[in-house]
Amino acid sequence: MENKMKNILITEAQIKEKIVSLGALISKDYEGKKLYVLSLLRGSFIFTADLVRCIEIPTKIGFMTTSSYGNNEESAGIVKVLYDVPDNIAGFDVLIVDDIVDTGITMNFVKGHLEKLGAASIKCCVLLDKPDRRTLSIVPDYCCFKIPDLFVVGYGLNYGDYYRNIPYIFNFKEQ
Ligand code: IMP
Ligand code: MG
Repeated sequence: MENKMKNILITEAQIKEKIVSLGALISKDYEGKKLYVLSLLRGSFIFTADLVRCIEIPTKIGFMTTSSYGNNEESAGIVKVLYDVPDNIAGFDVLIVDDIVDTGITMNFVKGHLEKLGAASIKCCVLLDKPDRRTLSIVPDYCCFKIPDLFVVGYGLNYGDYYRNIPYIFNFKEQ
């Protein structure tokens, strides 16, 4: 990837603007509810940190890790729980936060997992939606940006465990 040029798709300012309005919307929708934000690691850690600071109602926050793509661009298709929800979420209105919905396999799995744990309601919120590659009928309840079928990195998303710290979203183009 080192010999490839960066193509910026979404800037820091665009991300910030969307998150502010999304935080306001979530605050309104979850008013009077028992909101529990479940952040899927590692990809959503930056998005979650920015989003929860724009939520103005009482919010519990927890993390869960599922196995993901590893260092490849293709999903293995099998999801494993590496670190489970640390709290009793029975009766909570859980909002799953992830970086991106691609095939939908991860989100579908996590939703099913939370149902078994007795969540009162389960919705999902993603920074990016890549609908072209969907194999399961997952439609995010909240989404900042729809993107075409490109492998993107930055703002939490990785390639080979790098680029998560880059504050904008980009893809690589051949030189
Ligand atoms: P899904 O299970 O196929 O929906 O994929 C979900 C996970 O795959 C995300 O949480 C990301 O970790 C990873 N992923 C999917 N597309 C991309 C991408 O374009 N860049 C980096 N990671 C991605
Ligand atoms: Mg992920």
